Amino acid sequence: MAKKCRFCKGPLVYPEERLCAVHLAKYVEKRVDKVLEKVMGLKEKKLLVAVSGGKDSMGLAHLLSRKGLNLELLHIDLGIPCSSAPALTVVKAFAEARKLKLNVITLADWGFTVENLNNCQSLFKSNTCSLCGSVKRYLFNRFAHEQGFDFVVTAHNQDDIAAFAVMGISAGDLRYTSKLEPISWPESERKTVGRIRPYFYVPEKVSLLYTLTQELPYHDGKCPYLTGNKQGDIKSALLQMETTSPGFRQHLVKFVRKVPVSDSHLQVSSGQPNSCRVCGYPTAIDICRFCRICEGLSNQSQHQ
Ligand code: AMP
Ligand code: FES
Ligand code: ZN
Ligand code: ZN
Repeated sequence: MAKKCRFCKGPLVYPEERLCAVHLAKYVEKRVDKVLEKVMGLKEKKLLVAVSGGKDSMGLAHLLSRKGLNLELLHIDLGIPCSSAPALTVVKAFAEARKLKLNVITLADWGFTVENLNNCQSLFKSNTCSLCGSVKRYLFNRFAHEQGFDFVVTAHNQDDIAAFAVMGISAGDLRYTSKLEPISWPESERKTVGRIRPYFYVPEKVSLLYTLTQELPYHDGKCPYLTGNKQGDIKSALLQMETTSPGFRQHLVKFVRKVPVSDSHLQVSSGQPNSCRVCGYPTAIDICRFCRICEGLSNQSQHQ
């Protein structure tokens, strides 16, 4: 006889935990609530949910939009050919259907595109997706700070978080540990809004199943600049470990979070928290990465 949901005997969508679609949704919500309940007075907080249009952020935005929270959406239009336009369409339709305010930042308005970043990988000694990640993080924080939001909410899932832990270890750079928390608290005097990662305890596979079973449209576009995807390789290896040792990813993150971080663990000395000399937003060194990117791209275009 086919196995049935362990709670209601409905048809299974997540056989590993023997859950039907309804109880999968409850399972995801419970894990999300475990993170959200750490924020005192959450309903009074102004939340900015960063939605890329992908499976994780559309599922999370759907779940949060049903909780009566004070939230708006933010999408960054990266101008990636064949990918950004359909992602924006998905996000716009979602916002309209839910009557949620959608804020859109167009990267081109900042004077560059992801294509420019792609052409300057050697100048910045970094790959395109890492540069793009820095730009997105900067814009999330700056927009949220300027508009008076308390927290930016992202849909990083448990697999992403475990991969950050491994990347920190493999680079010998424990600055990654700041990403291993479900919540980072606002530091308004440093122009830093808080960060909530509600999918911290939700595995990627479960996030996908949730989005599918809730019948939510999403944009399934792999970033075209992703080459030699180290994070993807690490995620696959971690998935393998999870199969033989269930709970591995969670234990790994828990373990790495406990490692005391001293300056010798950091590739760049943490020193005193600084404000960027150009924009005034936080940076570990004199000028923040975003401003260095803007300056590098502008110098380069002047010499062409
Ligand atoms: P990624 O770094 O692409 O794995 O995305 C991690 C999270 O960042 C997503 O789940 C979203 O919450 C957010 N995000 C990524 N790309 C965008 C974007 N273009 N606009 C808004 N939010 C984004
Ligand atoms: Fe933005 Fe690859 S260029 S994620
Ligand atoms: Zn059930
Ligand atoms: Zn700056």
